[in-house]
Amino acid sequence: MDGKKLYHGAAYYPELWDEKVIEEDIRYMKEAGINVIRIGEFAWAKMESIQDQINIDFFVQVIKRFHDEGIETIMCTPTPTPPIWISHDHPERMYVDSEGNTMSHGARQHICTNHPFFRERSLMIVEAIAKAVGKLPGVIGWQIDNEFKCHVSECMCQTCKELWHLWLKEKYKTIDQLNEAWGTEIWSEAYLEFEQVPQPVKTPFLHNASLITAYRQFSREKIVEFLESQVNIIREYSKAPITHNTGRSFDLDNELLFANLDFASFDAYPDSSQYTALLLQYDLFRTMKKGKPFWVMETSTSHNGYLAGHQKNHPTGFLEAEAVSGYAQGAQGFSYWLWRQQRTGCELSHGAVLSAWGKPTVGFKRVMDVSAAIKKMEPMMEETIPLQAEVAITFSDRARSFFLTEPLEGLNYNSLLQNWYDTVLDTGIHRDLIMEGGDLKGYKLLMTPYVPYLSDALRKKGEEFAKQGGIWIVGPMTGYRTEEHTVHRNAALGDLEKTAGVESLYWYPISQTNSVGKAFGTQAPLGHWATVFDPETSNATVIGTVRGGESDGSAFITEKVIGNGKIIMIGAEPIGDKGKLMLSRLIHHYAAETGVQVKTITSNGTIVIPRIAKDGRYRLECAVNMDGKGGVVTVQQIGKDALTGKTILPGQLSLEPYEYRFIKYDI
Ligand code: GAL
Repeated sequence: MDGKKLYHGAAYYPELWDEKVIEEDIRYMKEAGINVIRIGEFAWAKMESIQDQINIDFFVQVIKRFHDEGIETIMCTPTPTPPIWISHDHPERMYVDSEGNTMSHGARQHICTNHPFFRERSLMIVEAIAKAVGKLPGVIGWQIDNEFKCHVSECMCQTCKELWHLWLKEKYKTIDQLNEAWGTEIWSEAYLEFEQVPQPVKTPFLHNASLITAYRQFSREKIVEFLESQVNIIREYSKAPITHNTGRSFDLDNELLFANLDFASFDAYPDSSQYTALLLQYDLFRTMKKGKPFWVMETSTSHNGYLAGHQKNHPTGFLEAEAVSGYAQGAQGFSYWLWRQQRTGCELSHGAVLSAWGKPTVGFKRVMDVSAAIKKMEPMMEETIPLQAEVAITFSDRARSFFLTEPLEGLNYNSLLQNWYDTVLDTGIHRDLIMEGGDLKGYKLLMTPYVPYLSDALRKKGEEFAKQGGIWIVGPMTGYRTEEHTVHRNAALGDLEKTAGVESLYWYPISQTNSVGKAFGTQAPLGHWATVFDPETSNATVIGTVRGGESDGSAFITEKVIGNGKIIMIGAEPIGDKGKLMLSRLIHHYAAETGVQVKTITSNGTIVIPRIAKDGRYRLECAVNMDGKGGVVTVQQIGKDALTGKTILPGQLSLEPYEYRFIKYDI
């Protein structure tokens, strides 16, 4: 993969079209400025329609033909759609959901990815592909499978049951230790041997929380094992970097999943009103493989669609804003799903670049706009890199798993985090999302909201970060569960209370109890579940006090000096517009205190993405209006428009809907 180039791509299914159409596609791709295709992820049947008769020639020819035309390839492994000879008459190989329904052949992900026969055949086809195309100059990268777990979650088949028992044995060693960890005296659950431990299938009521959360972890580790078995084979035959196109709401542990992959990539289908969800992912995947560019592996040119529905069409300008902000945030590739509209199947109504009948779609012109933008920005992207953020927000798929098991009042981790992120975004402070295990070097402020189980490792890391002069904001809703998804025995928040100098009074649903929080010169209703602190016995300064309700007079925000820094606890979340204002003041306050510099003033809906020249000579800022309403950026020092060379004076700079500007500032 050429480190300098920006890739502009599309998912392509040459196996569905004849030669004439493929030639027409090449012509149009060149016209539209497409320089990479992603192929193969659903083509297992084309490669091995009959068991053991593997033939990859067609794809070898496609890769060569496109390479000759200057179009490179990301090659996929085709394991999401195993051919009929694997599944027909073999219900034992199929995916089984938690209601006990066995999937039929059809759609994709219908098979159990842990079944030994499927695993064996997967590795055979992967090896054949890697051997055939691994060294072709056109192959610039690999994608393993496609969106693991996008349609399914944990499988409940017999194979998984046996593997579950082995996994438990490995983890707990003896059944007594499992019983102890899960507290199985409750409801006479106690097991005599590992083989008796059920999967979280249907019961009259609910399973033990420890069991459900453990099963999620088991499933997440298993899919990574499957991914890595493919990676190891590909590495034997190819030097091209490997990724997986993940999604934020699939039942995966992304930190684990990307550990042994070479670059991060994800799929995102925001409609134009969901642009902050997109920005969150840019800020997350930029740090997944720190210092390495990520890819937007799939996005729609205009709208997504399938038999049962579709999204609203993008307004003019949105796609370009999506692409420009992506590249400026650190993407190297931006790729559409899909190139040519599907003629058959279940996604006939999905947006594409070209229609099934070979004419440009409504998205084609937008793709041309993106190509023109790439031409302009490519030299700037080559000279600069994204500026290190000083503020980090913890992202945790494990936290998401805890909320899935125990949503309390129907809480959803992604939405909670999105709200938090939106508040930070609106402060104009440049930010990263980092995984639990992420490196804290370079950050001054760390926020860890909505992590029900706070590991000892993360607690110690946060403590150390504070000692060294950082400020660590913990909560809301962080630390109230143990690793085994049980309740702490020593305090509501376990050892975190000592670290943060708080003593909790209650942990309870504070929503709709008329409890109001007072802090930072403002008041706001408190919501969700709260841990409120005793102001008398806590060894920390009270910053926010609860008024009214059941815990009137208790503390919900505290501050403790520790070493050269501080730990801030947020025990209850201020909600609504007033809550947002309070949180925003809190963030500004602590960011200023810890010396955060990188922040910009814009109207909401307009963002500024900071980059820095590789040789440190200048700063480059990319201002983009993302909400399509136009906006204003406050320019604080004299700069130069990097595209026109014109001077930009300090003051208000207006942007038209979806307009973007690149501004250079001397350092
Ligand atoms: C993705 C998937 C693609 C296509 C697309 C449609 O989830 O990876 O194959 O189905 O959605 O939006």
